[in-house]
Amino acid sequence: MVMAILLLLISLMPVLTLADTCPRCGSLDVPYPLSTNGNCGNLKYRVYCNNDTLQLSSAEGFYYRILSISPSDNKLVISPPLIEKNTCLSSDLSLGGFRLDENSPFNISSRNTVMLFNCSENILLSPLNCSSNSLCRQLEDKVVEGSGCRNSLCCTFLKDASMTSHRIRARVGGCTAYTSVVDMQPGESVDSWKYGIELQWLAPKSLVE
Ligand SMILES: *[C@@H]1O[C@H](CO)[C@@H](O)[C@H](O)[C@H]1NC(C)=O
Ligand SMILES: *[C@@H]1O[C@H](CO)[C@@H](O)[C@H](O)[C@H]1NC(C)=O
Ligand SMILES: *[C@@H]1O[C@H](CO)[C@@H](O)[C@H](O)[C@H]1NC(C)=O
Ligand SMILES: *[C@@H]1O[C@H](CO)[C@@H](O)[C@H](O)[C@H]1NC(C)=O
Repeated sequence: MVMAILLLLISLMPVLTLADTCPRCGSLDVPYPLSTNGNCGNLKYRVYCNNDTLQLSSAEGFYYRILSISPSDNKLVISPPLIEKNTCLSSDLSLGGFRLDENSPFNISSRNTVMLFNCSENILLSPLNCSSNSLCRQLEDKVVEGSGCRNSLCCTFLKDASMTSHRIRARVGGCTAYTSVVDMQPGESVDSWKYGIELQWLAPKSLVE
C-alpha cells in the first residue's frame, strides 16, 4: 500500500511541476515563481503576457517590457521607459516614474546605474553626480534616444543600498526623464551599455505558498 502511494506520488511529480510553471510568452520562458495567470506560478510574482510580450506592472499600473529573466539568481531586467521623441520626458513621467509597491517581492538591484535628465537646478543639492563630465553626458551626446535631452542638466548615480530600492523618480520640477544601465563596467564604451532596470525577487518560502 505504502509502495503504491509512493509510486503514485512519483508519477505525479513531473505533472505538478509542469502545472506550476507558466507557459512561454512570446520568446521568453516564464520560470517559477513568476505568474502570468491564476493557474500557474505564484500570484505574488505577477507578470503579464500581453500580446506575446512579457511585462511587469509598476505600483501605478504602467507596464514595462521584461527583456530577460535569470531564474537561477532570482533576477529579471525590464526595459526603461521610452523618452518621447524630440522631448526629454519619460513616458511614465505623469506617474512619477517607476515605483514598486513596498510589499512587492521585487526590488531594484544595486547593479543599476541610473541617469536622470532635464533636472531642475535644485537637484544639485543632492549627492548625485551632475558634473559636466558625468556619464549621462555621453548618452545625451551619442544616443539618439537621448537627443531630446541634449544640454539639459543631467545626473548619474549607482542605485546602491543607501537608496530606496523601490522607486526611480521622475517629475516636473525634479528630473523629467531617466534611463538605467545594468552592470556598467568602468571605462566601458557607451555602445556596449546594456539598458535596463534590473530587479531581484525574494524567493517564495515554500512551493505551496
Ligand atoms: C500585437 O503584436 C503585433 C505584432 O507585433 C502587432 O501587429 C499588433 O498590433 C499587436 N496588437 C496589439 C493589440 O497591441
Ligand atoms: C524639461 O522639463 C520641463 C519641466 O520641468 C518641461 O517643461 C520641458 O518641456 C522639458 N524639456 C524637454 C526638452 O522635454
Ligand atoms: C562624476 O563622474 C565622472 C565620470 O565618471 C567622474 O570623473 C567625476 O569624478 C565624478 N564626480 C564626482 C563629484 O563624483
Ligand atoms: C531586495 O531584495 C533582495 C532579494 O529579494 C533582498 O535580499 C534585499 O534585502 C532587498 N533589499 C531591500 C532594500 O529591500
